[in-house]
Amino acid sequence: ELSPEEQQFNDLIAADSRIEPRDWMPEAYRKSLVRQISQHAHSEIIGMQPESNWITRAPSLKRKAILIAKVQDEAGHGLYLYSAAQTLGTSRDDMTDALIAGKARYSSIFNYPTPTWADMGSIGWLVDGAAICNQVPLCRASYGPYGRAMVRICKEESFHQRQGFEILLELMQGTEAQRQMAQESVNRWYWPALMMFGPPDDDSPNSAQSMKWKIKRHSNDELRQRFVNMLVPQAAVLGVTLPDPDLRWNDETQMYDLGEIDWTEFHEVLAGRGPANAQRLQRRRDAHDEGRWVREAAAAYAVKIAARKKN
Ligand code: 3HC
Repeated sequence: ELSPEEQQFNDLIAADSRIEPRDWMPEAYRKSLVRQISQHAHSEIIGMQPESNWITRAPSLKRKAILIAKVQDEAGHGLYLYSAAQTLGTSRDDMTDALIAGKARYSSIFNYPTPTWADMGSIGWLVDGAAICNQVPLCRASYGPYGRAMVRICKEESFHQRQGFEILLELMQGTEAQRQMAQESVNRWYWPALMMFGPPDDDSPNSAQSMKWKIKRHSNDELRQRFVNMLVPQAAVLGVTLPDPDLRWNDETQMYDLGEIDWTEFHEVLAGRGPANAQRLQRRRDAHDEGRWVREAAAAYAVKIAARKKN
């Protein structure tokens, strides 16, 4: 026999309505949202590092300005998402402490290095392109604060994706050396970008329940397929080759058949043994230590303001 609150929750989900912070919700729903939204926020913050590696070395003032704007956007995305997670009762300190302690997940994709400028193009075109495929459906997530954060984030992501595509297009219309740099970068980022969508559907423990709760609207494989279908014609415009020899159009399914993804690599990266996991965490820890004085000053200032209001 369902309690009236549980019935009300189920009715809201069934009617495709929003669950708001003050609504009753099953503890498991709350827990899974804190899990996903905090990981999403961590991804945005760690995701600033690969690109910030090129802010001081961008090839022109225009590229430098665009890259600074993009990295700044990602900090903002992290802020919206940490705030959305806090409406579920977790605190910013708890989430930050978990990340600093190496106990929190963040997207596997940010554990890869960015050795060339072309990586700024591949990250925009492939990583932000994949992020858009994953985030547009999340605008309709049943939890209000999460869905609404996604609407704002998706608007900014499309600029991120466009500028990445444009960097690669410019390189592919450049010298032979620039064309090779672009192709070599796409070769490194293509498969890790497909892994961003998560494990195959038959190995995705959270999907079934997440889809029942209308948090996840499409399965991992469905979104991965949608991304590749979108990518192939864009690769043709760029003149780059996607590094999957088994990629081919399937007339029957009207979709592209993909080659095998190396899930061992995926699990290695998730276990902290990716190419740049240690460096990313260390940089985040250093930033936390270097920023301690700002947090202390802000807290002291807040106490002063509160005391002044009282008198
Ligand atoms: N990186 C790290 N961990 C991953 C992962 C990835 N690419 N894909 C899956 N996982 C983890 C899951 O978190 C889960 O572990 P957990 O139970 O400890 O959380 C486990 O692997 C099994 O995966 P499931 O498919 O069962 O998990 P989900 O149902 O949560 O699906 C997801 C995974 C599709 C990533 C989902 O969590 C999601 O949509 N998250 C929000 C989107 C997100 O985080 N995107 C990161 C993009 S980065 C970004 O947006 C920055 C951009 O601006 C550049």
